[in-house]
Amino acid sequence: MLTIIKHPLIDVKMAILRDERTKSKEFREALEEIASLMCFEAFKDLPTYPSDEIIKTPTGAAMHRTKLKNKVILAPILRAGIGMVDGIRKMIPTARTGHIGMYRDEKTLEPHEYYFKLPDVPNPLVVVIDPMLATGGSANLAIDAIKKRGFKNIRLICLVGVQQGVDAVEKANPDVKIFLASLDDRLNEKGYIIPGLGDAGDRIFGTK
Ligand code: PRP
Ligand code: URA
Repeated sequence: MLTIIKHPLIDVKMAILRDERTKSKEFREALEEIASLMCFEAFKDLPTYPSDEIIKTPTGAAMHRTKLKNKVILAPILRAGIGMVDGIRKMIPTARTGHIGMYRDEKTLEPHEYYFKLPDVPNPLVVVIDPMLATGGSANLAIDAIKKRGFKNIRLICLVGVQQGVDAVEKANPDVKIFLASLDDRLNEKGYIIPGLGDAGDRIFGTK
């Protein structure tokens, strides 16, 4: 199921990311801020419970501290997913973080896994994070790898996607909720999202 998170503040920050003149530092800052803003919608249905821990308010009243029912694991797809992690972790400071290493073959656009490490937590929500959802190959390979380790409760948070990538994930993993800040027009012949924002990894890390 796809949710496109529409918000004027996200749209304004998205324009910073899309602008080819934006330098790495400003790009990273805007990406992190958008990731934080997306949390409001992407996690609005997370179950909570009143824990046994009692807190006192300044008025002297006592109440149970509210906690998230499920532990959260953030699973950024390397490299570009790293750029959204701090923004999400600010909203869920108790989240633990794993890493999934993937690269897309530039010619075939096939994804290849080169690293996988997730924390061992019982019954967590695993949040797969990657700014770009192009063919959907990397997201699907990451989700497969996560499911192979027995995790069941998985969400995918991306920034920009195209219908082709959404369709590919929905077909292979209909149980995974997908969140985007923008559904763009198409992929070009090199597999880049149009209008998109270019190569997210290169722009975050200044590698080109
Ligand atoms: C990019 C992006 C996604 C993937 C999306 O990563 O960050 O992981 O491409 O494309 P897909 O939906 O067609 O699989 P890339 O392989 O360029 O690696 P990088 O993040 O290390 O630059
Ligand atoms: N990966 C990127 O970094 N950008 C795209 O447009 C597509 C895949």
